[in-house]
Amino acid sequence: MRLTPGPARGIDLDSVDLFDLDLYTAGDPHPIWDAMRAKAPLHHQVLPDGREFWSVTRYEDVCRVLGDHRAFTSERGTVPTHLGTDDVAAGVLLTSTDPPRHTEVRRPIGSTLTARAVKSWEDAIRRTVVRFLEPALDGEPFDLAERALLLPALVTGPLLGIPEQDWEQLVQLTAMVTAPSDPHFRLGSEAATLAIAHHELVAYVTEWVKRRRASGGDDHSLLDHLMSVRPGGAPLTDEEIALDGYSILLGANVTTPHTVSGTVHALIERPEQFEKAQADPTLVPNLVEEGLRWSSAACNFMRYAVDDVDIAGGTVPARGAVVAWIGSANRDATQFCDPHTFDLTRSNAKRQVAFGFGPHFCIGAPLARLTLRVFFEELLQRFGSIEPAGEPEHLRSYFIAGMTHLPIVAQKRRTP
Ligand code: HEM
Repeated sequence: MRLTPGPARGIDLDSVDLFDLDLYTAGDPHPIWDAMRAKAPLHHQVLPDGREFWSVTRYEDVCRVLGDHRAFTSERGTVPTHLGTDDVAAGVLLTSTDPPRHTEVRRPIGSTLTARAVKSWEDAIRRTVVRFLEPALDGEPFDLAERALLLPALVTGPLLGIPEQDWEQLVQLTAMVTAPSDPHFRLGSEAATLAIAHHELVAYVTEWVKRRRASGGDDHSLLDHLMSVRPGGAPLTDEEIALDGYSILLGANVTTPHTVSGTVHALIERPEQFEKAQADPTLVPNLVEEGLRWSSAACNFMRYAVDDVDIAGGTVPARGAVVAWIGSANRDATQFCDPHTFDLTRSNAKRQVAFGFGPHFCIGAPLARLTLRVFFEELLQRFGSIEPAGEPEHLRSYFIAGMTHLPIVAQKRRTP
């Protein structure tokens, strides 16, 4: 989807189709979200098959839907591609539980992914990033978006304790779950793609846990850690570990690459921002926050209303599905001045909600922030310029905002 919006043209909010995949490939959703924030902050849509959902697009409302688990439950599923099908892993899967159960499930994973815990990975991540960037500097076109799909695997793979030879397959499967209609990942129908990928991913992690149990584990990886913790006195079951592993694999694989491509693309379009960042490397952490806000790779998450609930000037009926559009909240002018301008010196970029809000706030945020910071430190130090080498192609998904292709040509930075 276009991250720099074009002009708003003939938007009819009564007939707009927010699940139209073309809107996210060739289209331009930002002017639509702008109109929704202004005129229909609680928007209702019925799909041709009868499924319906409500949308909130303003920053405050998005935070409320994601953060208030008593009014908006995660237990029936949180991913809009599954709208209308209750989550089979409700109450077990990290993402599909509400507090207090959620707090118990999350605690053992959270302690291994804090900013302090992931700091010890910085040198290894830097070596990986340097290896990743080197081929981009041989003067030939380099497809950054395509290559970046493997980046989180290279970074998170060792952390999870999953062998490198399996990563390519896992990247493919996680992409199938999140963008089942994209021609790069689709296998038959959308429903078949989802079912195959979900089944194979859970089977993979289950098998991995079994093998690890048989060999005794090495206590160093995140999955080994999950096998040894005893939240509330009892160990996690193999099913719980497999589902946690599944959540982490999905969370890690499908978002960071699109933040990388979205931010690099913004810098290509705005050479003055690239120069600014090069001149002052202390701006990199803020560049990362602005890149997260700008690209909002997790475009939305979903909740279900527990009872009738008043929000954004309207009412969502009990059991109604509510989609919280994170990509829109991050362009809300009440929070971000001149929101469609990419500005790496923006003073409140850190208020972005790309990692969500409330109890389900992204557990991988410290790792993602570290990876992105190291990535841009190394890129700015090594690249003198970045030019486009073709048109970007956008992911065919209304859930993940990203690119499948971003061909670039980079020149080495001359050392002074
Ligand atoms: C730029 C990168 C990333 C973005 C934009 C992102 C975005 C998000 C968002 C918006 C949520 C909230 C979901 C909700 O409210 O239902 C979330 C949750 C989650 N993320 Fe991330 N994520 C990123 C990186 C990662 C990484 C690197 C990992 C793993 C190491 C990860 C693992 C998870 C998990 C397991 C959850 C579920 C947490 C819970 O339900 O308590 N994410 N992420």
